[in-house]
Order: sequence, then C-alpha cells, then structure tokens
Amino acid sequence: MKEKLEQLKNEARDALGGANTAPALESLRIKYLGKKGEITAILKQMGSLSAEERPIVGQLANKIREDIECAISEKATELETAALLERLVSEAIDVTIPGKLCSVGRRHPTNIVLDEVKDIFIGMGFEIAEGPEVELSVYDFDKLNIPTTHPAREWTDTFYITEDESVHLRCQTSPVQVRVMEKQRPPIRIISPGRVYRKDEVDASHSPMFHQIEGLVIDKGVTMGDLKGTLNLVVSKLYGENTKTRFRPHHFPFTEPSCEVDVQCVVCGGNGCRTCKQSGWLELLGAGVVHPKVLAGCGIDPDEYSGFAFGIGLDRMTMLRFGIDDLRLLFENDLRFLTQF
Ligand code: PHE
Repeated sequence: MKEKLEQLKNEARDALGGANTAPALESLRIKYLGKKGEITAILKQMGSLSAEERPIVGQLANKIREDIECAISEKATELETAALLERLVSEAIDVTIPGKLCSVGRRHPTNIVLDEVKDIFIGMGFEIAEGPEVELSVYDFDKLNIPTTHPAREWTDTFYITEDESVHLRCQTSPVQVRVMEKQRPPIRIISPGRVYRKDEVDASHSPMFHQIEGLVIDKGVTMGDLKGTLNLVVSKLYGENTKTRFRPHHFPFTEPSCEVDVQCVVCGGNGCRTCKQSGWLELLGAGVVHPKVLAGCGIDPDEYSGFAFGIGLDRMTMLRFGIDDLRLLFENDLRFLTQF
C-alpha cells in the first residue's frame, strides 16, 4: 500500500507538471483528492491493514494528500500569474502610437460664395425664399409668360418627369418668383438660391445641374434704376469697389425691359484673356423689370406695383470669385480641390 501511495505521489506530480489550464488542474484535483478520488480509495482499504501498519500508512497518506494539495495550489497560482501576464501583454495599449486622424470637412466654395451673397442681400432687407426642384410647368413656364413654342420647353432641353409635360426638373429659379407673389403681398424683397437642371452636355462651363440665385423686388415705383443700383452694389461688395459692370439689352419673356449683366473680367481686369474669351467681360446674370402680365397673373395690380427680377449664375460667380477655370471642379468632389478653400 505504501508503494501504491508513493506511486500515486509520483504520478500526481507528473500530471500536475503537465496541467496547463485551470480546468485541467481542477480535474486532477478531483481525480486524486476528490471523494471518489484515488487517495480516498486507498484510505478505504486501510481496514485490511494490521494495527501497526495502519497509523504509518495513514500518516503517509495524509502527508501525500497535503503534498498534492500544496502542489495544486502552487500550480493554480502559477497559472493565474501566467494568465494575467498574457492579458497584460495582449491588452496593452501603446500610448506612443499616433492617434487616428479625424478629418473635418469644410465649406464648399459654392456655399462660401452663396453665404456672402446671402449676407449682402439680407443686409439690404431681403428675405430668403425656397421653391421645389421638381416643378410644375405652370410655374416654370406658363405663369412666367413663356410661350408653348419656346425652345426651353423642348424635351431636348428640359428634364420632364411626366409624359404630358406638366412636371419637370426646374430649368431656372424664376418659378419661385411666382410662388412668392401668389402668397405674399408687396412690398416683396426676396432672393431664392437653388439647383436648376438643363439637358446640357458637360464641359468646362456647362453641367446638367447648376445653381442660380433668383432675386425679386416688388413695390410701388420700382424701376430699372433700382435694379442697376442694387446689382452694382452687390458686384462691388463681392469683387471690389472699382469692378465695372455692363448692362446689355436682352430678352426674357417674364421681364420687360430685360438685360444681361456682365462684370469686368476679374482675371485680366478687362484687357482680354482666356477666361473672358478676349472680350474683357464675363456674363453674370439675367435681369429685368417684371412683366406686367406676370404681375397680373399672380394677382398683383401692375398699375399700382412694379418690380425687378434677376437670376444670377452662382457657379459662375464662384468661379470668378476664386479664379476657378473649370466648372466641373465644383461638382467632382475631389478633395485635392475642395481642401483649398
Ligand atoms: N431665369 C433667367 C435664366 O435662367 C434669368 C432671369 C431671372 C432673367 C430673372 C430675368 C429675370 O436665364
């Protein structure tokens, strides 16, 4: 029996040496020290021993049990320490690694200029109005006195949404004039920025989607002189005091008289260059005195009230402001371009 105990001791020692996990250690504890374990089994057989042998074997068995208990708890501590070390290594944070750079966006150049323009007009008592981009042809054409034969109404020019041509993507911001005049009584002073759509091929100065800023002033006694004064002020604030403007006669169905307004080329100062196609001037907007038919159609008496309207090309304005020579840059979302502003 003594030999058996010694053998058990050696076996347990070897087994413990190979136990590398807490569960393995626990199953060894049960195997040797448990109620149905091997030492208990030996102790149960003590009855068959002689009276002299019994205390000796008993003592030895207890000693071996203590040894095994002791070895198990030592091994447990060893395993815990190893596990802790492993966690410390695997969960370690290297505080010297540079942090992840969080890139912050910035304003698009078109929005920068739009904000400047808004500020100028708000400073003159204008309000901002908005209208839908999917527009009724009644607002974008009929109520603006645009005849059914006008080329802008062709399917080749306009993105129609319905077969009957009653709904389309607005081709100008001018329908907002009508929407405001139908709802609001004069005096009216609004600007209305937004996206407009035309079936244009993409090139350095054309895009099927671009931006306009519509302007409308309706009051008693408003004239072409007020239009000139207002637009000259805006140009001088945006491009500098001495920037010259040129008002050229033009035709729009919804204004009479009508004009187009050019600014002196900001690139060459009027001497002629590639940007202004050697003319010294850059076209900026269309404008005019609101047609009496348009006023009457919106329930405003043209004998009592008059007004002016204009439509500025915001993208063109942005290009001039920052010296950008290709419209496509404004829509391509290339960060190399956008981060320059
Ligand atoms: N809507 C015109 C265009 O897109 C511009 C304009 C607006 C002209 C208001 C006169 C008055 O060309």
